[in-house]
Formats: sequence, C-alpha cells, structure tokens
Amino acid sequence: MQNFQFYNPTRIIFGQDTIKELPKYLPKKARVLVLYGGKSVINNGTLEEVKAVLSTDFYYQEFQGIEPNPHFETLMRAVEVVKKNKIDFLLAVGGGSVIDGTKFIAQAALYRDDPWKILTQTGPAVTAALPLGTVLTLPATGSEMNCRGVITRAETQEKLSFRNELIFPQFSVLDPTKTYSLPQRQLENGLVDSFVHTIEQYLTYPTDAKIPDYFAEGVLKTLIEIAPDVINKKDDYSSRANFMWAATIALNGILATGVPEDWTTHRIGHELTALYGLDHARTLALILPVLWTLKKDEKIAKLLQYAERVWNITTGSDDEKVNLAITKTEQFFQSLGMKMKLSDYGIKKDLDLLIERLELHGQTALGEHQNITLDVSRKILSAI
Ligand code: NZQ
Ligand code: ZN
Repeated sequence: MQNFQFYNPTRIIFGQDTIKELPKYLPKKARVLVLYGGKSVINNGTLEEVKAVLSTDFYYQEFQGIEPNPHFETLMRAVEVVKKNKIDFLLAVGGGSVIDGTKFIAQAALYRDDPWKILTQTGPAVTAALPLGTVLTLPATGSEMNCRGVITRAETQEKLSFRNELIFPQFSVLDPTKTYSLPQRQLENGLVDSFVHTIEQYLTYPTDAKIPDYFAEGVLKTLIEIAPDVINKKDDYSSRANFMWAATIALNGILATGVPEDWTTHRIGHELTALYGLDHARTLALILPVLWTLKKDEKIAKLLQYAERVWNITTGSDDEKVNLAITKTEQFFQSLGMKMKLSDYGIKKDLDLLIERLELHGQTALGEHQNITLDVSRKILSAI
C-alpha cells in the first residue's frame, strides 16, 4: 500500500425528508445565497422546501442560472451578488454543475486577483473561501463530498479544473427522493460518471491495498446491479438511495487511499466537452475502453482482477478474460445509452485542435506512469 493522507470534513445528511435538518448546520445569523441551475429544482419542489426551512431564521437571496458545465461568466455575476449583499454562506441546490460553480464562487468572492487565474493557476494561491453547503439532486460527480470543481469559459471554450481543501462543503443533504424527477439521460450520465470515477482510482497497477480495492469493486458491482432499477423504476427509493451513496463514495477520496490513480479518461474527456458540448459522462464512455485496449500490458494485473471480481470471468486465457471484461464494460455503457464513436453523436473531431488543447492545458504526461504523452492521446482520440 502506498503512503497516503485522507482528509474529508464534509457532513453527510442522508435520507428522506432531511432538508429540514439543514438550518441546524448553518452558522447562526448566516446571510445565505441559495444557488441553483434552471427549472429542475423549482419543478420538483426542492427549492421551495429549502426556502421554507430558511425563511424563519435566515436572511437569504437566490441566484438562478448556473448552467450545465458551469460558465465562468455566469459565476462572476454571482460573485457580484455575493459582494453587493454581504453574503457569508453559499448553499448550492442541484447537481455537480451548481455545486462546482458554487465552489468557484466561494473562492472568487474573496480572491484579490483575476479569478480566472484560480483555474489557470497563474495567480496568487487561494487562501480563503466562503463556507458552503449543498442539497444534491443528481448523483454523479461526488462534488457534494470533495474539494474539486470544473469550470468552463464560454468565450474561449476551455474547461479547467481546480482543487482546494477550503471548498469542501460543510454539509451535504442527500435525499434520494429528490432524484425522482431526473430524466433518463441524466440518470445514465450519473451511473457512468460514478463508474468511471471508481475505475480511475482502481484500474492502474496493484499495490496490495485491499481496502480501496474491495471498496472500489463494491461500488462497481453496486452500480452494475442497481442500474436497471435506477433507469426503469421511477420512484424506487432503494435503488436511488444506493445510487446516491455509491456516487458520493466514488469520488470522496476514500477510493484513492494507498493506490495510484489514472485520470486520463477525464482529462481527455474535458477537452471533448469544452469543444463539442458533449455530456461529461458520454465523453468518458468513449475513451475508457480505448485506453484499456492501448494500455492492456501495463494494466494487465488490475484488468484481470477487475474481470474476475467485478464480472465473475474465471475461465479462458488472460487475454480472453481481459477482452471479455472490456466488452462487458462497453455493453454496460451501451445499455445506458452511451455510444462508442464520436461520429454516432454527429460530432466531427478536429484531432489537431484537441491535441493542441491538451498541450495548452499541460495534459502531456497522463496516467499512473505519466507515459500517456500527446502521441498516445492522439492514438486514443483517433480511435473514438
Ligand atoms: O439546470 P437544471 O434545471 O437544474 O437541470 C439540471 C441540468 O440540466 C438537471 N437536473 C439536476 N437535478 C435534477 C435535474 N433534472 C431533474 N431532476 C433533478 N433532480 O440535470 C442537468 C445536468 O446537471 P449537471 O449538474 O450539469 O450534471 P452533473 O451532476 O452530471 O454535473 C456535471 C458537471 O460536473 C463536473 C462535470 O465536468 C460537469 O461540469 N464534474 C465535477 C466533478 C467534481 N466536482 O468532483 C467530477 C466530475 O468528474 C465532473 O468532471
Ligand atoms: Zn466525472
């Protein structure tokens, strides 16, 4: 097992009717900005519920309009609202985009330089952030219990990520009934995103780290097992509850303890979303099987472990087992509406531009061995 540190201060408030717990965990006399996306939290009643529990004891304002793949430009408008109204607590109500956007606002509101530099990491370090909490409505990103975020600058079509321990949510309310209104596309995306988060901390090389390995396999098997019910049973509490917790565990840091990581799929995926607007999860499903095929020799031990423990593949040569595991993974993705070629989404890729963007964003030595150079990324992108 490799050396590691694990730190995660986020309180999880899980279960049906838990929004009413929220005021207990807000600072007394907080001046709250409630941030949300489009109409989903209005239509499913979540926003109303949140406002009802805030209304008696707290000053609050609303900020509507944080779009999927949240835009820097929109978030900077929220920063103005924060400053103008002396807001001192941010409450995100929504999915990963609203939560990520809120994490960015928390830093930008107190940043003394151009906030874009938080993302390009070319300015002073972030040393302060407003406290925040979340009410999650879409299981997918794990943003409700991590200190990461991803922001898009519409003007330049760039999607950049950040990480800072100051922006761990203080609490996150996870009420599985709030996912009942999710459209099928977002359910599919959430299952695939959580699956790939788990994989990117698991499928590298063995370090005999039994806890994260068994945890990761448990999350993967859970997602495979519940996927049909999540998609087909609209109001099924049990599958939604398991989905919600699986997605959180998939990216709250616990699976990365003592193991190497390989975030190639995400890094390349972000460039596809930035240029073509393809949903985050759909980019991941395109890239992962190709990455495995190209890096089969380096990942063979973990691919075999994955084949045997997750898919129960116990017969055949090593090569046959691994190939079958890759095929089963592709079939799982396809059962969730994912396509295996960019052209199936009607997208014509500009390979040179994609490689240029990876270079511009410093993504030139990816993978657990830092040997996914731009040449390897080009091979991956050529194959999708
Ligand atoms: O805008 P509204 O009306 O709220 O609709 C949203 C949005 O259109 C809708 N939605 C959310 N909850 C709903 C609902 N519709 C009906 N009922 C509900 N209960 O779903 C749509 C997509 O929402 P979004 O927040 O964009 O999805 P997701 O949670 O998948 O977040 C994606 C973003 O998170 C980033 C991605 O790159 C992308 O920008 N990620 C963040 C990570 C992190 N912070 O750790 C890690 C991930 O790898 C990922 O990169
Ligand atoms: Zn993701």
